[in-house]
Amino acid sequence: MKSLNFDFLQRIKITGLLTLASLVVLSGCQGGGGEDEILIGHFGSMTGSEATFGTSTDHGIKMAVEELNASGGLLGKKVRLITYDDKGDAREAGTAVTRLVTKDGVAAVIGEVASGLSLAGAPICQENSVPMVSPSSTNPKVTKIGDMIFRVCFIDPFQGTVCAKFAREHEGLTASKAAILTDQASPYSVGLQEEFEKAFVAMGGTVVTKQTYQAGDQDFSAQLTSIRGSEPDVVFIPGYYTDAGNIALQARKLGLTVPLLGGDGWDSVKLGEIAGEAMDGCFYSNHYSQDDPAPRVQEFIKKYTELHKQTPDALAALGYDTARVVFEAIQRAGSTDGPAIAAELAKTKDFDGVTGKISIDAERNAIKPAVILEMQGGKPKFVTTIAP
Ligand code: PHE
Repeated sequence: MKSLNFDFLQRIKITGLLTLASLVVLSGCQGGGGEDEILIGHFGSMTGSEATFGTSTDHGIKMAVEELNASGGLLGKKVRLITYDDKGDAREAGTAVTRLVTKDGVAAVIGEVASGLSLAGAPICQENSVPMVSPSSTNPKVTKIGDMIFRVCFIDPFQGTVCAKFAREHEGLTASKAAILTDQASPYSVGLQEEFEKAFVAMGGTVVTKQTYQAGDQDFSAQLTSIRGSEPDVVFIPGYYTDAGNIALQARKLGLTVPLLGGDGWDSVKLGEIAGEAMDGCFYSNHYSQDDPAPRVQEFIKKYTELHKQTPDALAALGYDTARVVFEAIQRAGSTDGPAIAAELAKTKDFDGVTGKISIDAERNAIKPAVILEMQGGKPKFVTTIAP
């Protein structure tokens, strides 16, 4: 019995040593990148009902990485991107970020798109002193996690106001009664709903009904029937594109014909594919428009379309901008030290992005204009720009 125990303990020790040895070998060739490379991490939804968020962002980041490496790299090294699919799931997002910062040893993390998933990843980056930059999470709480967390987009108190102002003032809408349909488990949806409601009421409008759903629901008829009964001029749906598309289809079937209005979460080629005509004449706020004639925008669209055989959505443009902001910060920091990069990120001023000028404020957010797009024939068309 004694010798058996001893054997067993010995074996654990040996296995332990072997595991340790292989970890050292692994980290020797992976952790922090080789001598000649800088690692950047990206966590995003590459699959699932928000798959275009992750894939578009990744395409944008990759384009920036390729351009950088082709022009000589960063601090004399090549940049290598490591992307993990979080499947649109908070727990997976946490696992992905933990792996990026503790095992891969990335210099900075890019992600997430969805605010709920950025909120899952940010504390891990903060704890490990690795800077994280969200391209597109708009919920204010994200950057409040700590001084290592940044974003290059506007936030929802602004976006909610933009949507309310547009609903009230746009010719052909001039809504005085709004219904709201919120994804109750999504921090993004709940936050944007609150901001919209506050602003809409402050501008003299009335919210006639507030209904909720859960991401992935298939049947919205109960909520849509109540909404129809409340006779709104507009229905505000602060959710993501798959649900918004399905909601539009069912709303039209139920004879609810008023315009639907959404936030940036609608932005995906899939919105038009899912909803088709049901979305015609509906509006959403966004970070950029493909119709913007500015040369920097049109050049980006041309190059991206050649590379990916697809017109870039806002996520692609924001992914591209984020990566370039991160590279510039690393360049200025002159090292891959997390706090040093964060200090430089905080100083970002008038960066000439595809999505507009990016300046990081004291709260580590960017202040930028929003655009309103109108769905026509399954495609978004530029309507107007609303400045902060
Ligand atoms: N702003 C959304 C969020 O915070 C994410 C998003 C941005 C989606 C831009 C589409 C386009 O969850």
